[in-house]
Amino acid sequence: MTLFRKSVEAMVGYVPGEQPKAGTKIIKLNTNENPYPPSPAVLPAIQAELQHGAERLRLYSDPGATALREAASELTGVPANQVLHGNGSDELLALLFRAFLEPGESIAYPYPTYVLYRTLAAAAGAGVQTFDFDTDFNLPQGLFGCDAKLVFVATPNSPSGTQHSTDKLRELARSLKRGVLVVDEAYAAFSPTNALELATSEPNVVVLRTFSKSHSLAGMRLGLAFASPDIIAGLGKVKDSYNLDRLAIVAGAASLKDTAWTQQNVAKVVKTRERLISGLRSLGYEVLPSSANFVFARAPIPGGGKSRVELARGAFEHLKAHGILVRYFAERLLDDGLRITVGTDDEIESLLSCLKDYAG
Ligand SMILES: Cc1ncc(COP(=O)(O)O)c(C=O)c1O
Repeated sequence: MTLFRKSVEAMVGYVPGEQPKAGTKIIKLNTNENPYPPSPAVLPAIQAELQHGAERLRLYSDPGATALREAASELTGVPANQVLHGNGSDELLALLFRAFLEPGESIAYPYPTYVLYRTLAAAAGAGVQTFDFDTDFNLPQGLFGCDAKLVFVATPNSPSGTQHSTDKLRELARSLKRGVLVVDEAYAAFSPTNALELATSEPNVVVLRTFSKSHSLAGMRLGLAFASPDIIAGLGKVKDSYNLDRLAIVAGAASLKDTAWTQQNVAKVVKTRERLISGLRSLGYEVLPSSANFVFARAPIPGGGKSRVELARGAFEHLKAHGILVRYFAERLLDDGLRITVGTDDEIESLLSCLKDYAG
């Protein structure tokens, strides 16, 4: 007999991309981290927090993460009472389940997308309505007017890299009968547009951002939610009081203030992304348009005996054997391709030349 809740006993846990041991010589293009370091203002901010030795660590951190939320408010123009901080945007996703879902209610999302929505639903014992994307990754019609309590749309979407217009997302938010639309903008910095305005104009929209990609701070675990004062206050009621530690708060604030650094790194990533796309296409890969810091590339149409799925898996294994990690999803609609994070120019040249060898 198990002591777990039935839903937890039955679920499969989230499987994160492989994280090799620190110091391993590997080209890591599998979890969409930024290849460049965080702002040079980050370490001094952490050191300043520790200038009295460990004494500061004796006391709890600011439950309101005021310095961080004020920096976010200044940068975006969204009032600070419409901003909530999370231990990564993953924590904010979990908070949404805690705050909004009654037993028996369901969530909805398009497929394929960020796998954690499915994992959190399984853990909560929530019903799940999924609607397949078409081949161009347009928002599926079935989401519009659906009766789910929480509707999740990642834009740019992972693992496709494709994006939805703010107008379409507004239409979706307004069509929901009794649901909250969660616009997960983990990768928005790599796109010329974003849907942040919906957080202040629509009463049932939550926009999520992370520091893990554009701010090179995946290891600090920082995310932000933007929404109406009502929604932010409600989420605040169910969050852990001290969900961000002292060092994360000052690191995040310093990073937000250094907009020049972020923009420069984002521009470098976007430039390399275009090189990656053209290189993959010249090897016969079918690459979806990407507004993110990664691309999804379907294996070349096979000429020989192997299927596309075999080619994609084979390319993944070949890269791995040569010290290059990318992401392979053994899932419907994804198993014939690779998701490849945009690294430095040198890393991408190594990847392309390794794939060229594999193609023979
Ligand atoms: C769509 C999407 N949302 C959220 C996250 C989680 O980000 P964080 O590191 O802030 O928890 C990821 C991470 O890969 C992601 O791809």
